[in-house]
Amino acid sequence: MTTLHTLRKTLALTGSVFMLLFSQQAFPQSRKEYVLQDNWKFTKGDPANAAQPDFNARSWESLSIPHDWAIKGPFDGNNDVQYVQVIENLEKTQHTKLGRTGGLPFIGTAWYRKQLSASCFKAGQRAVLLFDGAMSYPKVYINGKEAGHWAYGYSSFSVDITSFLKPGQENTLAVRLENLPEASRWYPGAGLYRNVHLIVTDDTHIPVWGTYVTTPVINVSFAKVNIKTNVESTTVALAGLKLVTDIKDASGKIVSTISSTLAETDGSQFEQQLIVKTPALWSPETPVLYTAVSRLYAGDQLKDQYETTFGFRTIKFEPVKGFSLNGKYRKFKGVCNHHDLGPLGAAMNVSALRRQLRILKDMGCDAIRTSHNMPAPELVKLCDEMGFMVMIESFDEWKTPKVKNGYHVLFDEWAEKDIVNMVHRDRNNPSVIMWSIGNEVRDQDAVNGNKLITFLQDICHREDPTRQVTMGMNHYDNVMNNNFASAVDIPGFNYKPNLYESANTRLPQGFLLGTETVSTVSSRGVYKFPVEFAAMKLYPDHQSSSYDFEFCEWSQVPDDEFAKQDSLEFVTGEFVWTGFDYLGEPTPYDEVWPSHSSYFGILDLAGLPKDRYYLYRSKWNTEKPTLHILPHWTFPGREGQVTPVFAYTSYPSAELFINGKSMGKLSKNNSSNTSKYRLMWKNVKYEPGTIKVVAYDQHGKAAAEESVHTAGQPDHIVLEADRSTLTANGRDLSYITAKIVDKDGNLCPDAENELTFRVSGAGSYKVVANGDATSLEMFHLNHMKAFHGMLVVTVQSDQKAGDMILSVTGKQLKKNSLTIKTK
Ligand code: GAL
Repeated sequence: MTTLHTLRKTLALTGSVFMLLFSQQAFPQSRKEYVLQDNWKFTKGDPANAAQPDFNARSWESLSIPHDWAIKGPFDGNNDVQYVQVIENLEKTQHTKLGRTGGLPFIGTAWYRKQLSASCFKAGQRAVLLFDGAMSYPKVYINGKEAGHWAYGYSSFSVDITSFLKPGQENTLAVRLENLPEASRWYPGAGLYRNVHLIVTDDTHIPVWGTYVTTPVINVSFAKVNIKTNVESTTVALAGLKLVTDIKDASGKIVSTISSTLAETDGSQFEQQLIVKTPALWSPETPVLYTAVSRLYAGDQLKDQYETTFGFRTIKFEPVKGFSLNGKYRKFKGVCNHHDLGPLGAAMNVSALRRQLRILKDMGCDAIRTSHNMPAPELVKLCDEMGFMVMIESFDEWKTPKVKNGYHVLFDEWAEKDIVNMVHRDRNNPSVIMWSIGNEVRDQDAVNGNKLITFLQDICHREDPTRQVTMGMNHYDNVMNNNFASAVDIPGFNYKPNLYESANTRLPQGFLLGTETVSTVSSRGVYKFPVEFAAMKLYPDHQSSSYDFEFCEWSQVPDDEFAKQDSLEFVTGEFVWTGFDYLGEPTPYDEVWPSHSSYFGILDLAGLPKDRYYLYRSKWNTEKPTLHILPHWTFPGREGQVTPVFAYTSYPSAELFINGKSMGKLSKNNSSNTSKYRLMWKNVKYEPGTIKVVAYDQHGKAAAEESVHTAGQPDHIVLEADRSTLTANGRDLSYITAKIVDKDGNLCPDAENELTFRVSGAGSYKVVANGDATSLEMFHLNHMKAFHGMLVVTVQSDQKAGDMILSVTGKQLKKNSLTIKTK
């Protein structure tokens, strides 16, 4: 058992061939699943005979997937230039948008191919390829023949390749992908950017996404579990097949079991009811999971074994009181995120996703909107495990275009298939709370808009009656007048806090959701004076101020949304635009190069918190106190000038001291939305030295303090790893923040020294990012300038355990190094 366990673990960790060896040994006929990550060949363009090529040709590069073929750039303002009128941004005419899709060279075709080893597939078995997403228009070839295709790059889809394979021989898999220009409003990524699975089963088997687990009754003493299980066979009569299902709790103990035989009248679907006593409930705070293990028999012969993770939780949306989870009312403290992972591009990486969620968790965030498309399945799994409620979204366009080659070109043929796959893949995951059928689709205004909303919503209901459907609406008058907003289960409004009350009195649902909120813009470490509220404010350096007073013509500052969330019970929460900065959409600088990534993030593209992170944390994290001061306090030349100091804190009041002199004690108050949530010493004057804030709790007792000192000259580099021990699986990542500090360790907030990185030992250098939306330095190169004194280096483990050493050097700086262990 121990050996098997270790072997299984080792194989799982190698990542390249993830085999359920344990189940295979115990059940020789069972399925094998290979995650096809390594030993791919890749080329750009359409070479001759690409589907069945010469494997030794030099033009094919060797690589592993997930892979984003455009992320290495170079950045260029001429890539995917779009001349468009963005009516969502209240534009009256067409404008030339540069950097809208990130300025990366992702347009064109590319091929990936790989040999499937002879031992993978034997005569009589069934083989299916499952793509978690492929950007885009994937065409799948086996031994030179097309076996299947899809179109939308974000959809998961499967292709049955059984009849194309030569049993017991090597087979060639090739995938062609094509990205069209003007097909997106953000950076989509390019290539096999998510995993590809080869699933080999007996001919008699449970197909991809073959189970549907629902929990129709949940109470303290027991829960009813309903499991529908599909089966397929070309060789055995389905009637008479036996299905044994065990439910295991989080510790692996079987807590319920059932065995049934398929009757003639059941067709190809088993339906089983089980009881689980004293079910442990899933919630963001208690993400408890159960597993249904389904074993399919023909006579005494085990044909297949299939596992489904699920959880017990109740969700309800109701008039007046809004949303409740497990009977407790709560509001979504959510963020919208695009799918890219900053410097990694769109290439999915589990540790990068986990890091994002860990950071958001600490902020107190409990919900994610996968704007504006289906996520990687790994994200949903992590949300199950780490405790986030998820809104899974499908489309940014229906039939009316926003961009020339957007989803509207696919809608008629593909919308139903895409929604069905979205729902089938993720409907067992307890973290998934609702489906979103669209974001700001222009069909809101169209005559047939109502028909389309019903069409898409009905598909979701048909495939999953347990969840309600939402969409992000922005054309308030139209959707209120044409009944669009009353047709959707959960009315979702983008940037409309001031209309929530009016909407609620006019709509039948009695509750609504801030599907997309705020869109405040800021750049980490950047402070502009004078500090004033401003929409679409532009500066010559293409940055936005981190005092968090700058927003878009259609958007707000966080406090305006907070105020409505706090005062209106029927508002079920918000999803802030965005958690992390993303590639593309550099509003308000989307017409000027070199801006090429967003300014909306609460965290920058490197994943470093902007000041705003602490504003959200002060409100959302109710477990741990927050006290954060801004700005930095190194402004040579500003002596004597008004330089406001803000504190973002969970404490009700605080006192500011500049060089020991009190600037007064302030309390949060109702004089404005911002003064409800921030403490602001607006008139203090800059003098070098130390600013200190002492926070007082509700009893007036000093509870915490924070200081910032004026920094001297850059002296050395400080390195802080988010994780100092990695798994030796060739994929695990550590994110190391490098800070340029003075001799006393104070961050030099204007330092922009170029740093260089070398990794030796049991790992490799991966990427770097500094969060500067205007930087044209490439992420994969081993040097970059610091942005406001900081950047983040990412290193990756090897498959071999040991120590990995990162050394960081910079001109005129004392160098530093750091050791990461891998095991
Ligand atoms: C919304 C849109 C988002 C993003 C955002 C920027 O209109 O849904 O995708 O563009 O604006 O504020």
